[in-house]
Parts: sequence; structure tokens; C-alpha cells
Amino acid sequence: MTLERKWVSGLRPMQAMAVLYGEGNVEASRELVDGLSWQIFEGPERKPLTGLRRAMTGFVFWLMQKTTREDMRTGPDGKTVVAYRNRILEYTKHPYTSTLLQPSNGDTAFLVEGGDPMNAIYMLLSPEVHRSAGLWDRLLLDSVPSRDVQIRFAWETRLTYEFAAQRLKRGEPVRIKAFAAGTGLSVILTCDRLLRDGHDPKLIRAVISDRDIAHCNKTIRLIEKLPRLRELIDRTGDAASGIFARAEDIFQEPSTAEREQPYHVVTAVGILEYFVGHTYTTTEERLGEGTPSGSPNAEDLLRAVANATAAGGHLIMNTHRESVATRILEVFGKRFRYRTPANLAALAASAGFKSIGTRFSGNVYDALVFEKEA
Ligand SMILES: C[S@@+](CC[C@H](N)C(=O)[O-])C[C@H]1O[C@@H](n2cnc3c(N)ncnc32)[C@H](O)[C@@H]1O
Repeated sequence: MTLERKWVSGLRPMQAMAVLYGEGNVEASRELVDGLSWQIFEGPERKPLTGLRRAMTGFVFWLMQKTTREDMRTGPDGKTVVAYRNRILEYTKHPYTSTLLQPSNGDTAFLVEGGDPMNAIYMLLSPEVHRSAGLWDRLLLDSVPSRDVQIRFAWETRLTYEFAAQRLKRGEPVRIKAFAAGTGLSVILTCDRLLRDGHDPKLIRAVISDRDIAHCNKTIRLIEKLPRLRELIDRTGDAASGIFARAEDIFQEPSTAEREQPYHVVTAVGILEYFVGHTYTTTEERLGEGTPSGSPNAEDLLRAVANATAAGGHLIMNTHRESVATRILEVFGKRFRYRTPANLAALAASAGFKSIGTRFSGNVYDALVFEKEA
């Protein structure tokens, strides 16, 4: 039985996302967090798409290839940027399409940013928002890869909670760190659940980091609206417990304090697929453009993550496998580095992590857990 959540009833995914991360709408934001938490920790498991919806993906890829054209423009800094035109997507007027069509900053044009579009996908985990979603919401935000992203997010959250709760039940403090966390919604839901279970907030330290400061501002705005978590905000980064949202590049040198106090549960989700090394193929190889290289690479990323992880600590990461669904995003300039669980395990081993299991395998992603060897 789910509780009636009247403030979120009728909200569509993009509206829900604006409510959650915007100023105000306190009741609706709390209900959204409750609904997401219920779905992840108590609700029926969402399943990867199968059948006709999955079979249609090949047709959608063909259609997108046929109907999309590149539009070269000059950006504000005088550099050439690529935008995309597609009549079908433009016709939908759905805000998500702008992430595919609009020119993005040259350095990040190839990656899926963890901002509004990604968060709108997560909003579909709310039972009420799922019910209110329209046709285009379902086609764009609940597609084969998007459904996998929702389930990957649910697993990331459950696993972070599981490893943190194990320590707390033994009366030990837990330090959690999410790298490239976007708005850190997964950590927010984890901490909310741990406190709801009655764990001592003084034993919990969570650091949500992403290089984009706009995401960190959203994190704080949301936490300020949540009564259980509000008191935990650490605004200076100096506290031993509480939640700290930090604009940080993964490759930035960790502070001495962080080196001395590594984390017990670490996540690096939705990020490795943009870094080369230990892949079975890449977008560039698939398109006949040669093998991409460059640094920092995936091993550099894993080394940075390992430096922040305690011996015996747990690391949650994902694979990204090549499929017709991911080729649709490649039509819009996205570039991926594809890995199987075995590729990811070899990459993790390069930084001293051993795989302790795959927890989810969907159409595109697997969620894997690693332990840092002593
Ligand atoms: C696809 S999103 C994934 C966000 C989140 N982990 C999730 O699963 O929803 C990728 C995120 O990585 C961040 N990012 C990219 N490069 C980064 C870097 N070098 N250091 C820190 N964050 C980075 C982006 O700002 C973006 O929020």
C-alpha cells in the first residue's frame, strides 16, 4: 500500500524535477523524495524493457539516422560547435530533446550531463509521476537505456545503503563518497533512509561531489527542504559527520584530511563510459574513426577513486555495453567507451579493487560492486 501523496499527484517528470530542485514547493519535494524512496526500498522492482518496446529501438535508430542533420554554428567564444536538427524531436517540444539537439560546450559535447535530463529520468521512479507521464515522456525518458538508468540508480542507492547500514549496525561510523554524483540524489535517498531507520546521524559522513557547481547548488537546495536531512548539512567541509556537497573534479588532488580519512562506501556511476582504457569497443572504433586515446584515462580515474577508498571499502560502478539503443545517442554526437563486467573488473584490478559481484544486468548497463584490497 502506498500513501496518498497529494502534492505530487499530476506532476509530469520535467515538472517534478523542477519542483524537486527549485526554490519552494517544500511539501511536493518531500513527497517526491518519499515516493522515490518507497519505490527503491519497498516497491516492486522495475524491470529492463523487453518485447515490442525493446524491438522498436532498431527502428528508432534507423529513423533518427535518416532524419537528423548536423548544423555547424559559431559559439560565443568563436569556436565551431555542432547542433543537431531533427523535425520529429522538434515537433515533440519536449524539453528533454534540447539535450540532444542543442549545441553544448565543446569539451563536454560528447557526454550526457548529469543535470536536468538525467534527473527527469529518475523522476519516473516516483509512482505518482510515473502515472502522470505522457506519451513523449514515456518514449524519451523511459526508453531502453533510460529504463536501465532508473534501475541502475535504484541499485546504486540500495547498495550504498546496504554497505553503510552494515557498518552502522556494528556501531561503526561510515564515510560515504559519491564521485561525479550529479545532484547526489542517490546519496540523499540513502542518508534519508539510514536516518529513518534510526541510525545515529553523528556516525554518518557523506560527501557528494561533482565538477559542476550548479549540481551542488541543487543538492543543497533540496536537502534544505528535507526535515530529516536539513540539520546534517555541512557548509564548510570541516565537520566529521553530516552531508557536504562539493564542486570537485575527480582528478583534483585530495586534501590531506581526505587522504587520512578515506571513505568506506564509494560510488562512481555514469562516468567511466567517457574515459578510455579496458574497453571492448568505443564509439570511435565502431564508426571507423580509430581508437581514441588521451588522458586522463579510465585507469587514472580508478587511481583517484582508490586513493579515496579505505582498505576493505566498497566501490559501486557500472558498465556500459554497446547496443542499438546507445547508437541512438551516438547519432547526436555522444561518445562512449564500452565495457563488459570483465572489462570493468580488469580496470578495477589495476587500482587494487576485486569484484565481489554483479547486482544488476540490464540491456545496456550492469551494476557491479568491488572491494578495495588491503
Ligand atoms: C552522466 S552524469 C552521471 C551523474 C550521476 N552519477 C548519475 O548517475 O546520475 C555524469 C556526471 O559527471 C560529472 N563529471 C564529468 N567529468 C567529471 C570530472 N572530471 N570530475 C567530476 N565530475 C565530472 C558531470 O558534471 C555529470 O554530472
